[in-house]
Amino acid sequence: MKASDFGPDFLWGIAVAAAQVEGAALEGGKGLSIWDTFAARSGKIKKAAVPSVACDFYHRYKEDITAVKFLGFKIFRFSIAWSRVLPAGRGLPNQDGLGFYHRVIDECLQQCLVPYITLYHWDLPDALEQEGGWTAFSINEAFNNFVKLCAVEYGYKVKHWIVLNEPFGYTSLGYMLGMHAPGKTGLNNFFAAVHHTALAQADGGRILRSEVSKAHIGTTYSCSKILPHTNSPNDELVARRIDCLMNRLFIEPALGLGYPTADWELLERFNVRFATWRLTARMRFDFDFIGLQNYFPLTVKYNPLIPVIQAWEVKAKNRKRPHTGMGWEVSGLHFAGIIRQFAAYENMPPIMISENGAAYHDKLISGRVHDDERVAFFKEYLAALLELKNEGLNISGYLVWTLMDNFEWAEGYQARFGLMYTDFKTRERFMKDSGHWWKDFLAS
Ligand code: NOJ
Repeated sequence: MKASDFGPDFLWGIAVAAAQVEGAALEGGKGLSIWDTFAARSGKIKKAAVPSVACDFYHRYKEDITAVKFLGFKIFRFSIAWSRVLPAGRGLPNQDGLGFYHRVIDECLQQCLVPYITLYHWDLPDALEQEGGWTAFSINEAFNNFVKLCAVEYGYKVKHWIVLNEPFGYTSLGYMLGMHAPGKTGLNNFFAAVHHTALAQADGGRILRSEVSKAHIGTTYSCSKILPHTNSPNDELVARRIDCLMNRLFIEPALGLGYPTADWELLERFNVRFATWRLTARMRFDFDFIGLQNYFPLTVKYNPLIPVIQAWEVKAKNRKRPHTGMGWEVSGLHFAGIIRQFAAYENMPPIMISENGAAYHDKLISGRVHDDERVAFFKEYLAALLELKNEGLNISGYLVWTLMDNFEWAEGYQARFGLMYTDFKTRERFMKDSGHWWKDFLAS
């Protein structure tokens, strides 16, 4: 398999996110984000890690963008920390913060890399969380003003925009399960956050369309093929529920279909409560591309003891399936399966794989990391992707997650996803074998 097998127009890139790499949590006038405060107080992050220095991308962005170029990628995807440009979440912009992203963008352009900006990659300004964050009605106006600020500030030089990163990720982990910032729990918080998020993704798209000439606008979704453990009716029922939650909850409103209420009566109750049928039109936006981010399939079985969803994950290691250092099942087959599922929607925009990668227990030995498992992971997923392309699916590109080991949310610095190994004492980066593999692959 060669990169050229994907065709001359296929887009190859690599992604990072502000809270995971930047550090400089209080430098240059930045306000605190919910990840700064959650890390400091929640006790829920491995080894009590905090993102205040992270990879120090804030000071090392030139070196990192040079590495992207060296590897041969064409796209560099990064996110804007809302609290860096608007320390209080709204109101007066912070000129220093705005300047930082100008420098990042200019460095990309100078190195002939195409910048893709993610507007929201999970790091809400803490000041807005004080108002209720994504559960509060007021979030939509604040988000829209933030989008407008960025569009006006950078839109004349950046044409590729991603409104949200994995809305199911932050609404479920952050507002239902309490495992991520801001650490809220319960269905009421979750559904309120979901609804304001579904409005934000479409409003954000519309603002970009009106403020940025020739904009190419997308948004991203996490997705996982959901497999019932057996073909018992109960296992199949809970697999359908989890599919509604994990795969359908945000794409369907964006496509103008509203929430997938017909397949789960709980969602219908929520639909009535928020009177969302009246907002179906506002939740729709014709995106130019949809970013899909897949890491693993999920096998679920019925368990009546689990409240509400009544589903239980059957872990890959218990089924003796190959898995990554995170315990996530490795399956190119089901990667292809879930992309086919999304591609089957009528009026589905072109798909970009906006994140894919794997964490393993890498060891740095004499400056080298021999991460053969990660190379095997990429080969398997890319071969599956090539098959889909050859079937004629409209897939425009693929972005690796991620450039360097970074702050992996509740995993702290324990999960290493990078093509470069980060020494978190010195912040020195070391190219892993997988990085060298990508360099050769992209040249092929
Ligand atoms: C999805 C998220 O967008 C990203 O921030 C995270 O690090 C990766 N998945 C790996 O978990």
